[in-house]
Amino acid sequence: MAILVLGGAGYIGSHTVYALVDRGVDVVVADNLETGHIEAVHPKARFYQGDIRNRAFVDSVFEQEKIDGVIHFAANSLVGESMVNPLKYYDNNLCGTKVLLESMVAHGIDKIVFSSTAATYGEPERVPILETDRTEPTNTYGETKLAMEKMFKWTGKAHGLRYVSLRYFNACGAHTSGQIGEAHNPESHLIPLILQVPNGQRESVSIFGDDYDTKDGTCVRDYIHVMDLAQAHILAMDYLAQGNESNIFNLGNGVGFTVKEVIETARKVTGDPIKAVISPRRAGDPAQLIASSEKAKSVLGWKPEHADLEEIIATAWNWHKNHPNGYAK
Ligand code: UFG
Repeated sequence: MAILVLGGAGYIGSHTVYALVDRGVDVVVADNLETGHIEAVHPKARFYQGDIRNRAFVDSVFEQEKIDGVIHFAANSLVGESMVNPLKYYDNNLCGTKVLLESMVAHGIDKIVFSSTAATYGEPERVPILETDRTEPTNTYGETKLAMEKMFKWTGKAHGLRYVSLRYFNACGAHTSGQIGEAHNPESHLIPLILQVPNGQRESVSIFGDDYDTKDGTCVRDYIHVMDLAQAHILAMDYLAQGNESNIFNLGNGVGFTVKEVIETARKVTGDPIKAVISPRRAGDPAQLIASSEKAKSVLGWKPEHADLEEIIATAWNWHKNHPNGYAK
């Protein structure tokens, strides 16, 4: 029996495939390669190129492979883009998931682990954020992820399917082997943008707002290493395989760093002075997002192993300095 990883050519998906293969799991990857990279797919995984909105494609994968469970990363995930082009997000994230669920139900596949996000909470009522806190997304991306969670819930009740939703905070870092890492085009995430400065690809990094109500005025985020996220997916699939009920877990380190602290740490790691320029606030950015991941630790037995920000940035730097253009030659 194999695990099907949808979106396994993307950033978090590819790291999860590596972790599954390391554990000796038989892995099938499906990806439309719209934002994923074929070079990121582990050579031991069987790869199918196609789109989850295409029922015939999804059915064909389930018919050709013996799939025990699905890990679902296949979605668009840029907050800014989701505000400019909301229907793209409804189409891919929701319509795609609907087709996937129809096919899973038809083929009797009853376990799914999927990527959710801290963006489901919107402006938090308190930090650290608990899974039971208010969910009021402030962008279309978060809204579609929350709707996906609900789609799993109601489909589960009707058809006996069980799910685990993993709400990631700020995914970052790269595989410690240096083989795979983050490669978005265009890039919008803080750590890769910072590292473009020492890589000679940009002159400075912008700090989006220094007048927030935080210790140095810049936004606070909970940065979590992508390999720790990958492990959480494996534990979540084990949890479902053991017959446990559907559940939702936050994934973060429970520690917040300001934008200025992240830049300062990157200066230390790279030895570069990294010029930073104060810029206006970016619309829709909450001042602070910090996870309580106590539930993932106690229920799943999750234990982040790369929690140190310096180590996280060092793995990212190792990837970006050797792959300044991502997977492009
Ligand atoms: N930032 C800058 N300058 C930049 C880029 C980002 O100051 O050039 C700041 C942002 O304002 C934010 C922090 O750095 O305060 C982190 O920004 P990212 O874009 O790296 O990440 P976000 O916190 O905006 O988004 C992340 C995920 C989303 C997810 C969201 C949950 O990337 O997918 O967390 O809130 F939806």
